[in-house]
Amino acid sequence: MTRTVYVLNGPNLNLLGKRQPEIYGRDTLEDVAAECKRVAAEFGLESDLRQSNYEGQIVDWIHEAREKAAGIIINPAALTHTSVAVLDALHTFEGPVLEVHISNVHKRESFRHHSYVSLRAEGVIAGFGVEGYALAMRRMGSLLK
Ligand code: DQA
Repeated sequence: MTRTVYVLNGPNLNLLGKRQPEIYGRDTLEDVAAECKRVAAEFGLESDLRQSNYEGQIVDWIHEAREKAAGIIINPAALTHTSVAVLDALHTFEGPVLEVHISNVHKRESFRHHSYVSLRAEGVIAGFGVEGYALAMRRMGSLLK
C-alpha cells in the first residue's frame, strides 16, 4: 500500500513568492514542498508536490494518483471555481482529498466563494497562508492512520 500523498497545485502557483505577495506571501512553492515533506515524514508518509498551469495535466495527475497515492492535497487555484473536469477526476480517486487555499477566498471576490472541488473534499483550509499545506498534511496523517 502506497504511503505517498500528492500535493497538487494549479495555475499561477509556480509564481508563489513573487505573485501578489500581499495576498499569497513570500514563501515559494519549493519552501512549501520542503515543509510538506517534513510534516509527511512525521506520519511515515511521502509528499510529492507538483504544479501545473494546465487543467488536463492536473486531471492526468489525479488519474495517476488512483494507483500511486494514498491521499491528495490540492490547491486547484483558479480551477477551483471553474473546473468540473477536476471535480470529476477527484471523484475517480478513492482516498482522502483535502482542499487548500492560501488566501481566505471567502473574504475576496464573490466568484471565489464557490468551489467545485469542495463537493469532493473531506476538508477545506483557507486563509492560513502557506501554513495551510502543513496543516492539511497533518490532517492527512490522521486520516491515513
Ligand atoms: C487560491 C485562491 C484562488 O481563488 C486563486 O485563483 C488562486 C489561489 C489560494 O490559494 O488562495 O490562484 O487557490
